[in-house]
Amino acid sequence: MAEFYITTAIDYVNGSPHIGHAYEKVLTDVIARHRRLLGDSVYFLTGTDEHGQKVQQTARRKGVSPQQFADEVSAEFRAMLPRLGISNDDFIRTTEDRHKVVVRELLQRLFDKGDIYKGEYRGFYSTRSEQFLQEKDRLPDGSWPEIHGEVTEIIEPNYFFRLRSYQGWLVDFLSKNEDFVFPRYRQKQVLEFLKDPLNDLCISRPRERLEWGIPLPFDEGYVTYVWFDALVNYYSAVADKPGIWPAAWHVIGKDILLPPHAVYWPIMLHAAGIALPKGVLAHGWWLTKGEKMSKSAGNAFNPLDLVDEFGADALRYFLIREMNVGQDGDFSRELFLVRYNSDLANDLGNLANRVLNMTNRFAAASVPAPGADSEAEAELKSLWETTRADYLQLFEQFQFHTGLERLFAFVRSINGYIEKRAPWKLGKSAEPADHALLATTLATLAEALRLASVALRPVMPGATAKIDAVLGYVPSGTWSDELAWGQRLSGSKVATALVLFPRPLAAAKAP
Ligand code: MSP
Repeated sequence: MAEFYITTAIDYVNGSPHIGHAYEKVLTDVIARHRRLLGDSVYFLTGTDEHGQKVQQTARRKGVSPQQFADEVSAEFRAMLPRLGISNDDFIRTTEDRHKVVVRELLQRLFDKGDIYKGEYRGFYSTRSEQFLQEKDRLPDGSWPEIHGEVTEIIEPNYFFRLRSYQGWLVDFLSKNEDFVFPRYRQKQVLEFLKDPLNDLCISRPRERLEWGIPLPFDEGYVTYVWFDALVNYYSAVADKPGIWPAAWHVIGKDILLPPHAVYWPIMLHAAGIALPKGVLAHGWWLTKGEKMSKSAGNAFNPLDLVDEFGADALRYFLIREMNVGQDGDFSRELFLVRYNSDLANDLGNLANRVLNMTNRFAAASVPAPGADSEAEAELKSLWETTRADYLQLFEQFQFHTGLERLFAFVRSINGYIEKRAPWKLGKSAEPADHALLATTLATLAEALRLASVALRPVMPGATAKIDAVLGYVPSGTWSDELAWGQRLSGSKVATALVLFPRPLAAAKAP
């Protein structure tokens, strides 16, 4: 079994989770579940990023210790995961000993090699973004962009990591590994960024300015820069678990690709003699009315409100169906409702109900054995064959939204097949040929619904498990085998009804 190690970014604990955070977990979960269905042995990590100035400041404002504050918010992020149906194997906190030990070992190793040196830092520091800014970050009028908050000039002795001496190596590495960053056009942006000389990275903060961090092993008067600390989580979580590292994919947002994940992290690993991950997948942002959704912008939606109202599967479906991985997508309750009503309640939910209803009415709730196919059955099967091939390929390429589009076209064709066969007419007929056709129709419908359910499993684990159960289908084997049209349900007893995605909604929620 191939090992497939996948991670999300670890979330800052200075605010509650919003749709953007939920999306990243769901996207990663869909990939993890997909790989498990392909037969890989998956290890899925997520967690929280807890050190740094912002957390220290917020905790102070609230009159609690940074640890207590981090404990509370981290617990909130963690509690969100089962509510979203996330199948993570591990949850790491950067305040855990297992993490701190590895960060300190890594720092010591790089220090001993001479890749970390002491120098003097002089520059403009933003507390909000916890980074030193450069002249090129200034706006044309000389001021600093709003997102950096207050910016002050400081001079202080600090420790530096020799990024610059690895710049040539990184360019060479990226040129040889064209698929390191997904989507590809972002890899080009990284190479563009690397055309300018890199500055060495300041990886320390004097303790008098920042206490809330991991002390440097070779100078306890300093703590580790929060990004240097945070990135190591991917490695520290599995450092004592043989066979998992290197990661297959780090799933992150496009805002943290450059420079942390595409420059610092590969160089840190390479300098320390640790194998590199297969790649970094940078997704886009959820926007509200054209602006990045974020706690500080005050335009954040709480994903759990939608889960309470519509269920985790509906939210997962919306996030994956609506977003083209890598690009930005608009979020609004209206858009959500359109998808919910048309795809879930109308197309899928309706189909499941019709199949159950007719199997109960015309075949005493037992899926009949099919007779020979006629044109309509052959057409539906051949549509399934192309849908399946495209779907598998699109999933492999992280094109989930297009995959779902195809799959729902198949679902609509199953509904179309029902109209064509009109089982309610066949059921009334006295002709034996019509009875045979009715049996074939019901068998074809049950099988087509089973296939749609198997295909949707990584995206909607809850709803598809319900569909499987009412069809009397027990999932087994790998995905490719389960996705073969095989009349697996002949003789199976089906349930009487299933309410998957209840309606009406817009009306029920009107104030
Ligand atoms: N702590 C760092 C990541 C360290 S990884 C070693 C961080 N945290 S964050 O809480 O600000 O963001 C966590 C993830 O959520 C990031 O990948 C970020 O891109 C993602 N999102 C935050 N807002 C988002 C949207 N509005 N839309 C989609 N994802 C976005 O950065």
